[in-house]
Amino acid sequence: MTKLSQLILGDTGCASYIIFCEKRNKAAIVDSFLGFEENIEKELMKLGSPTVEYVIDTHNHADRRSSSPLFSKKHNTGGIVKSSKTPYKGQIKPTEDGDIILVGEVQVEVMFTPGHTPDHNCYLVDNEYLLTGDCLFIGDVGRIDLGGDYRKKSDLMFDSLRRLEKLDPNLRIYPNHVGAVHAISSEATYSQLGHEIETNEAMQIKDKDEFFTYMTEGWPPKPDDWEQIIQDNLNG
Ligand SMILES: [Fe+2]
Repeated sequence: MTKLSQLILGDTGCASYIIFCEKRNKAAIVDSFLGFEENIEKELMKLGSPTVEYVIDTHNHADRRSSSPLFSKKHNTGGIVKSSKTPYKGQIKPTEDGDIILVGEVQVEVMFTPGHTPDHNCYLVDNEYLLTGDCLFIGDVGRIDLGGDYRKKSDLMFDSLRRLEKLDPNLRIYPNHVGAVHAISSEATYSQLGHEIETNEAMQIKDKDEFFTYMTEGWPPKPDDWEQIIQDNLNG
């Protein structure tokens, strides 16, 4: 049986995840953040202290410093699971689109979904849950204006959304950010892919030029220190 723990980190609106295989007592930590290690530790204890086989990132974050290097070291995972496209300087277990990671008997399929960043992965867990990172939010998508070529990133995001549209609409989606603190109008912490396909504003736009306008107008202020945070997270 697969269990997915969603950990909303205080009032930050950011979410970390733990994928847990009860049968084999194995776990993977996804998107952990500095200052919130205790949330992860407590949840692992609640789950009966499974062996942490993998430490996984959806992408290089710009709004919060990662504690993946710390957990990777602590649990001796031999590097962080990240897209092979990441310019991360630390030790990684590089992924390609379509790779399968086994957490005990739980299948985690890598979906390379660039756009928000050039190194973004979504993770499809046992064909039941989709960890969407900062690709797909509830009612919105992740911003593309934190570095890089905005037009290129907007087009990549557009294509990534078209890929997600082809998946089972019954999938439950679990994003990296939820709620008003991230200018997301829904207070829900997860959604169903079919619901997003029908109602998510960004997913209704089927023209790349129109999408680019959407992706570059009316976004909230950029996170404090975002350039430094990107650098720090790349250094590991
Ligand atoms: Fe992000």
